[in-house]
Amino acid sequence: MRLLNSIGIYLLGIVCFLSAVFGLAAEAPRLVAKDGRWAFFVEGRPYLILGGQIHNSSAWPSELPQVWTSLAALHANTVEAPVYWEQIEPQEGQFDFGNVDLLIRGAREHDLHVVLLWFGTWKNGNMHYAPRWVKTDVGRFPRMINPSGEPIDVLSANSADNLKADKAAFTALMRHLKELDRDQHTVLMVQVENESGSIGTVRDFSPKANVQFAGQVPAELLAVVHKKPGTWSEVFGPEADEMFQLYYQARYVNEIAMAGKSAFAIPLYINVWISYPPAELPERRFAIPGIQYPSGGAVQKFVGLWRALAPSIDMIGPDIYSSDSDFAREVMRAYARTDNPLWIPETGRDDSFAKLLFYALGNGAIGFSPFGVDATGWNSLGDEPTKAHAYNFSLLGPINREIAQLNLEGKLKTSVEEPGRERQELDFGSWQATVSYGFPQRDGQHPPGTKDAHGAALVAQLGPNEFLVTGVDASISFHVPGRLPGLRMLILSAEEGSYDHGTWKTSRLWNGDETDRGLSFHHMPAVVRVQLSTF
Ligand code: DGJ
Repeated sequence: MRLLNSIGIYLLGIVCFLSAVFGLAAEAPRLVAKDGRWAFFVEGRPYLILGGQIHNSSAWPSELPQVWTSLAALHANTVEAPVYWEQIEPQEGQFDFGNVDLLIRGAREHDLHVVLLWFGTWKNGNMHYAPRWVKTDVGRFPRMINPSGEPIDVLSANSADNLKADKAAFTALMRHLKELDRDQHTVLMVQVENESGSIGTVRDFSPKANVQFAGQVPAELLAVVHKKPGTWSEVFGPEADEMFQLYYQARYVNEIAMAGKSAFAIPLYINVWISYPPAELPERRFAIPGIQYPSGGAVQKFVGLWRALAPSIDMIGPDIYSSDSDFAREVMRAYARTDNPLWIPETGRDDSFAKLLFYALGNGAIGFSPFGVDATGWNSLGDEPTKAHAYNFSLLGPINREIAQLNLEGKLKTSVEEPGRERQELDFGSWQATVSYGFPQRDGQHPPGTKDAHGAALVAQLGPNEFLVTGVDASISFHVPGRLPGLRMLILSAEEGSYDHGTWKTSRLWNGDETDRGLSFHHMPAVVRVQLSTF
């Protein structure tokens, strides 16, 4: 009897241990859609990715100490870091995940999540991260051939061997991540390739690819584009070369993603070198695929096509390196779709790009990440610290989950200052918010605006008469439609505070000068929860 009791207690112990272990396992990250809007869920709750992408050569042990200091200064909640094919597979089939492990462990110690970037077949439309054994075996791993018949430094998407080699390495990476991270889910998602496509030719003009190009367009593609059968030139006319590259590239990337996902099912995405207005790139004045942007990439006009051809990819994110607001907004609108969450995996690190975060949130973004945020001491894009991004992240970091939730529910609006638009309205139906930029704001005078038009505001509706408000160098006044602020309405309470694990904590009440001329956000990051009433 005593023996049976001891066995029973022993078994119970094992069960408790196992359930404790399984109970502790974090829920896998995932994308959630609701009524055409999106949220990224981490540990079962919406999460806004406030990311920082480190420099291309910074995912090395020697660089990590400064990476952690830089990410803390940025107030980021997520680090984006590359995984180099040439480093993880120095010899075919022999893997070294030392860098990846150190990165993930370091991120855990610094309370950060991770987005890994697979620098495989493609990096900025070239093949520079392929291992030496790939680069030197041109027979087995064919390059693209340009129209003049010359090879270029881009691997061909029309080669089964290129695909097989990349797929094997990516799958090994995903398998390794599963072992290391399936319980904690420090890694939120993985980017498949980096700005895939070809710089140097619109498509592969090798004899093998030319034979494929002279043949019929595959039925799978015809079904997506709703066209009648024919050769590539017959079906697509002047766009035939680019469509050919896009089709083989999307299939290649999709196959890698599919294999990776079957090893470890976390979200996978691609980033895009977008198509800029020609004048933006003086050295690339022609809007030609393969010159102005990597041919085959999911540029603005091809987002839907890529979504259809690469279903194992969960989303497509534009890298935005123009701070021109009109252009950036147009790009965001092209990628924010019911079949594609808006995610900005890269943008400029300097202050002029920071307000784009508010445009992104106004378009329902699930995350936003400036590039080159670590202090390597060398930076081709400039050396200034990322001040404005850091300010925004310190403002929104503490309420990132609430922002993500409110955006999923369609309750969040943003306003962004532009030259000549120092006063703007946000419309919530029975309540309107007037946003005025720049200080001091004097009675009877138009708001002065800020000197470089960097102001922004975020207003989210919590209830019929309740709002969450914050901003950068902005004042926000509520009013009923058609009346000035203060007429037939008043503020019942304006509580400065923040959310602590989903519960609002008030630090002080704003009243008097802090509310009578609008809720003013200046110098110090603050969030206010305001209750209004009409009479
Ligand atoms: C876009 C690329 O995706 C990044 O890796 C980096 O090269 C940046 N451009 C800036 O140069």
